[in-house]
Amino acid sequence: MKKSTSPLLNTLFLLLASLATACSQTTNPDQTAATKPATAALNKKPGWWKETTVYQLYPRSFQDSNGDGVGDLKGIISRLDYLKSIGVGTVWLNPIYGSPNDDNGYDISDYRAIMKDFGTMADFDALLKGMHTRGIKLVMDLVVNHSSDEHAWFKSARASRTSPYRDYYYWWPAEKGTPPARYSIFDVKHDAWQYDAPTKSYYLHYFSRKQPDLNWNNPKLRQEVQNIMKFWLDKGIDGFRMDAFQFVAKDPSFPPMPGLTAQNFANAYNHGPHLHDYLQEINREVLSKYNVMTVAEGAGRNPTEAHLFVDPARKELDMTYHFEGVDVGSNSETYRLTDLKRVFTKWDSSFARQGWQAIDLGNHDQPRMVSKFGDDRPAFRAPSAKLLNTFILSMRGTPYCYSGDELGMTNIKFEKIDDYRDLAALNGYALVKSQGGNLPAYLKNLKRFSRDNSRTPFQWDATANAGFTTGTPWLKVNPNYLTVNEAAEEKDSASVLNHFRRAIALRKQHPVLTYGQYHLLDAANPHIYAYTRTQGNDKALVVLNFSAEQRAWALPAGLTLGGTPWLNNYPNFTAGPTLALLPWQAVVLPLR
Ligand code: NOJ
Repeated sequence: MKKSTSPLLNTLFLLLASLATACSQTTNPDQTAATKPATAALNKKPGWWKETTVYQLYPRSFQDSNGDGVGDLKGIISRLDYLKSIGVGTVWLNPIYGSPNDDNGYDISDYRAIMKDFGTMADFDALLKGMHTRGIKLVMDLVVNHSSDEHAWFKSARASRTSPYRDYYYWWPAEKGTPPARYSIFDVKHDAWQYDAPTKSYYLHYFSRKQPDLNWNNPKLRQEVQNIMKFWLDKGIDGFRMDAFQFVAKDPSFPPMPGLTAQNFANAYNHGPHLHDYLQEINREVLSKYNVMTVAEGAGRNPTEAHLFVDPARKELDMTYHFEGVDVGSNSETYRLTDLKRVFTKWDSSFARQGWQAIDLGNHDQPRMVSKFGDDRPAFRAPSAKLLNTFILSMRGTPYCYSGDELGMTNIKFEKIDDYRDLAALNGYALVKSQGGNLPAYLKNLKRFSRDNSRTPFQWDATANAGFTTGTPWLKVNPNYLTVNEAAEEKDSASVLNHFRRAIALRKQHPVLTYGQYHLLDAANPHIYAYTRTQGNDKALVVLNFSAEQRAWALPAGLTLGGTPWLNNYPNFTAGPTLALLPWQAVVLPLR
């Protein structure tokens, strides 16, 4: 048994530790990019988005600067040095546009304004400048499957059947009877048609009643969307994450779709008529004129469909992120590692030659990744969070880190419905209650899967409210902030945060981790996820022990270790023909 520590890692760590110390010094919230210059070149080469790591930032929960309990743009500006210090190349901001906040900004009332809670357009300009000065790109959410019912278009459309904006939305006149059933995800009755008295018509809303669906069959609406995109791209942003885009195309005759349920609506709504015509039009008229990235949420029901969105020759979007990975185990008490391996391997093989995909295990619609795929008990939280970050950062594709996952933040697991803020949780509860259903069972499920689990405020330090706000936070802070917080992790070389930094640095250093061919090993092993990455002569082996027990794993014939680990989430590593892996141990090893 041989213990080893990599000299490379030591050097890397010293470098990062000094960086971290520099960054952990309290940043003055008033210190903007303008007063504290930090220059780094912005990667301009075509296809830059393949080599970046995306940090998904939930503005409402990141940093409050004015004590109103809600995160804001000035708060983000005050933390830009932190973002730079962790090594991410791109930030995707959840929606920051004008919105009454029915669905935390996914209900937009003004596409060219900043939400009052978040600040002003001047703040936005400073934020973008501050990011670019630091070599960080900015990607915005584009939410155009629906608007808010408080958007001027909808206000006009609902007032009269002859409004010039009437056809920006879908209407079903009441004189035609009840519209063909459509399922709504957030509606308190899951009914996607809402009767609107002023014009005696129903309007369509796949999401909440305050999120009426936009009519993409109308060329005027499509032109409006293109103009909105140009408005932000001309400001200099670096791309869009396209929200619910797989749903935008609809057959306006609304043929019957019997039997729509929570389980099958997504399949039924996917890929409506002309979807790809719309995307090609957007590419031709807008995207082709800018060097930016686009990522489609949940594009396609399977890899074949996903390729239709992102194969370069089709000139539509750049990359897709699928739901199958995060969905593994969503309906069961536990998930099976073999399912996770199967899903990620299937998607990787499908993208081995063409197209590009995102790699993620969490986002603002999912529970915290460490609570779902790792083990958030105190003894295993840190190693399992490090393992999951190792996974994301050693797969082919563009890694997406959801804010807080670099610290190993966990689900909050609320006990009472009053603690929740997400309309999906609240409306679901109201529905179960109105049906006399099993409320304790509903709450138990929410505890594990509610979106509010991942939306709790970022844990900066051990002061009141985790340093997120001096006021009352809009959503409770996870009580584990006393130990799980950025300031504490800065000081600890073995923290989840510093491991995350090492993993990003490693990915930048070894292109094989971005581009190399992926090959799954030992597919049937229920505890170990192991794979090789190969590019020319560069070859790496990733071994992840997805369990809280020690495991032995025999090195497959033909593989020869080429030295000490490039990355390891424990101080020691025991090499040999059989690897002895500690609970949740994750190693990236060079191969000969
Ligand atoms: C997907 C977003 O990720 C989610 O947060 C939102 O509620 C829906 N789209 C509706 O916009």
